[in-house]
Amino acid sequence: MSSRTRLKTLAELATQNPAASRVFHRRRIDFCCQGERTLEEVCRETSTDPAELEREIREEAASGAATDVRWDERPTGQLLDFILARYHAPLRGELDRLLEMAEKVERVHGAKDPERLPRLHSLVAELRRDLLEHLAKEESVLFPWIRRGEAKTAGGPISVMLREHDTAGALLREIEVITEGHSPPPGACNTWRALYLGLAELDRDLKDHIHLENHVLFPRALRS
Ligand SMILES: [Fe+2]
Ligand SMILES: [Fe+2]
Repeated sequence: MSSRTRLKTLAELATQNPAASRVFHRRRIDFCCQGERTLEEVCRETSTDPAELEREIREEAASGAATDVRWDERPTGQLLDFILARYHAPLRGELDRLLEMAEKVERVHGAKDPERLPRLHSLVAELRRDLLEHLAKEESVLFPWIRRGEAKTAGGPISVMLREHDTAGALLREIEVITEGHSPPPGACNTWRALYLGLAELDRDLKDHIHLENHVLFPRALRS
């Protein structure tokens, strides 16, 4: 791996090469809330061969190059429209659906796993509550401010959003641990399996969403 790539942070790599973010998802490397680590540090922490990781990113880039978008090179209005349509709009309905399933799985199967299933239900409820408030703040205050190009002095509100992203990231990590990497146990019913599949997608989408806000949108808003 070239030393320049190795010294880049995960956030820089995911911004400059969208294929890198897909590889990070696959390898469960957190590049949104813990995106300030360099690739070299992560390889050391996880005993990963840097050359192997570099090859995987190169191959991923070759396979998805036609549809990859460099959001750091697009206008702010387009980036805001994309975040709202791709991540905000579907999230409320999805959180309702996941909460309903988590409640049902606990009610029907709670006796099979009395420690983890009630905890999972309460984690999903907490994540939903936090995110609904978070989306409302971004949509009603911060995003309009950024769209008007007046967010240079929005350091205070942005730091609140960053803290809320960290909280959401911590909840996602606990959900990942409690569900053993979103893997339903053998013999799990359809709802249980659908819940874990939905949680894996939520994990992926929320990390991409937070990455775009933390590493592209907010830094740009503060520079504007
Ligand atoms: Fe957002
Ligand atoms: Fe956000």
